[in-house]
Amino acid sequence: MKRMDFLATCAAGLVGGAIVPRMVHAESTVPHSWPSVSSDEERFWAFLRDQFPLTRDRAYFNTGGLGASPFAVIDAVKSKTDELEYASETGHNEELWKSVKGSAAKLLGCDATELAFMRNTTEGINVVAHGLPFKEGDEIILTTHEHVGNALTWMPLAKRKGLTLRLFEPSTASAEENLARISTLFSRRTRLISIPHIVTTTGLLLPVKEICALAHTRGVWCFLDGAQSAGMMPFNLHDIACDAYATSGHKWLLGPKETGLLYVRKEMLDSIVPMFIGAYSADFDFLKGSYSYEPSAQRYEYGTVSTPLRYGLGAAISFIQRIGIETVWKRDRALADHLYTGLRAIPGVTVLSSPSPDLRSAMITFMHDRLPHLEMQKHLDTDNLRTRSVTEGGLAALRISTHIYNSFEEVDRVIAGVRSA
Ligand SMILES: Cc1ncc(COP(=O)(O)O)c(C=O)c1O
Repeated sequence: MKRMDFLATCAAGLVGGAIVPRMVHAESTVPHSWPSVSSDEERFWAFLRDQFPLTRDRAYFNTGGLGASPFAVIDAVKSKTDELEYASETGHNEELWKSVKGSAAKLLGCDATELAFMRNTTEGINVVAHGLPFKEGDEIILTTHEHVGNALTWMPLAKRKGLTLRLFEPSTASAEENLARISTLFSRRTRLISIPHIVTTTGLLLPVKEICALAHTRGVWCFLDGAQSAGMMPFNLHDIACDAYATSGHKWLLGPKETGLLYVRKEMLDSIVPMFIGAYSADFDFLKGSYSYEPSAQRYEYGTVSTPLRYGLGAAISFIQRIGIETVWKRDRALADHLYTGLRAIPGVTVLSSPSPDLRSAMITFMHDRLPHLEMQKHLDTDNLRTRSVTEGGLAALRISTHIYNSFEEVDRVIAGVRSA
């Protein structure tokens, strides 16, 4: 398959009859054959790397912060923008929304009606935080390693409503240890556990299914901050059985910037009250004074939105699914495991990511005994290696994200760079 065909599969497979995006970049029309080789071969990944305009002058290891988009996504956004601007229309299209949510639901393991479009993970967290019926004295359990999105969101709310935030330090030792730490924080006032699916600091995978089960036996809600998991690894939200989950389209899903998704378990729709509403949130009759929220998570959406961004998010999900999320996870983990092993062998380096492979993801975090992490970052930057500084939870470390556009050669450059520091 030529790259053009591949793009068309990704972007046009969304809705029957949708306009196939026109190529906007001259370079994006360079044909590539879709390799008939297995994803176990490097040639497969070299082909995939060609699908990204991402510069080769720098090795990009910050997908946990922001994912690079492939041409398929960029072209989808551009072509939809061109199409809509030609006629100055919003492009509001229920069939398209359904189609994008349908493919997202397949990837995340839920129903399309349980998904709402968001601008990012943070917006999804805010919808949950401000929509749940908290009362003064209620307690919420979080980790000490929250990203600002799941930390700051709660702080003014806690102050205003008289809530208590109770924190545990996520353990990289074992799943059981995390369950034990959470258990010690439970009280009769605990209402919610709000934790990351994958911890942003060390890439630690929390035992979310067991945590949700534990929460539910105590009548406590469980919300997952999924900023780091969608598009990196396979999972099923119905199987995990969380009450709500928020993620970004612009990280591991490689979607357009300012896209995200919020999952709300259908039984929770009436418990998480939409705080911002408008067109598309509800059926209403203004003159009669009656309204009823949409029976789906669409109730959390309102007003005019960017159709090109939603279209691009659909193209991104199709792109990931074209590769296969299991294949993505296998590749991302192989690169991360290679990095983990290489860093562990360097004297003076402490790897903060879990020694247990089952608790690791595609983000590896480390520090050096003698070189402050920002100095290390500067040093790696001189070799054009883009890393991310980690300061959450009082850490001073560097995080390396490995995704499908990275190679073993690039990972070796990180190892060599850290060694030479
Ligand atoms: C765990 C976690 N939660 C939330 C966020 C915020 O994501 P966004 O800026 O897309 O809202 C991030 C971003 O890195 C994150 O790592």
